[in-house]
Amino acid sequence: MSANKKMLTREINFTLNGSPVQVSVPVAENALIMLREELNLTGTKYGCGEGECGACSILMDGESVNACLMFAVDCDGREIVTVEGLAQDEVNDQLRDAFVEKGAVQCGFCSPGMMIAAKALLDKKPNANRDEIKRGLEGNICRCTGYVKIIDAVAAVSGTNQ
Ligand code: FES
Ligand code: FES
Repeated sequence: MSANKKMLTREINFTLNGSPVQVSVPVAENALIMLREELNLTGTKYGCGEGECGACSILMDGESVNACLMFAVDCDGREIVTVEGLAQDEVNDQLRDAFVEKGAVQCGFCSPGMMIAAKALLDKKPNANRDEIKRGLEGNICRCTGYVKIIDAVAAVSGTNQ
């Protein structure tokens, strides 16, 4: 590797879905590309690439963030969770069942990002009402469902009637 190339990459260490990872990344690479193409975690979707759709949502230290807007090096030292990391998560189990039951998954492209956003919300506000759910999901676009079924699904998990 040339000296120039070495300057353009950096080794980072972070926790990914509960396990420590060490990866060398180009300093200009975004986190979404690193997750999908270097770490093969393709559950996180590439939608707009501009921070508008939420398809690329991941949890960083418990907050839902757009991976397409982050540099991969921003993951250094952080706790990152992708939708794959929610496979054994109790809240996510309930969300997954509720999304199916309420018909909140159609093409499914938005679903991983919606699950991440809903998980971040319910971890902070387990009994979130419908207004809080709408605010919690407002960065995530769905082109199929009209949102009501998604909100119904999250509301079924939070147990809200309001
Ligand atoms: S792909 Fe990141 S917000 Fe759309
Ligand atoms: S189910 Fe198709 S974009 Fe949401």
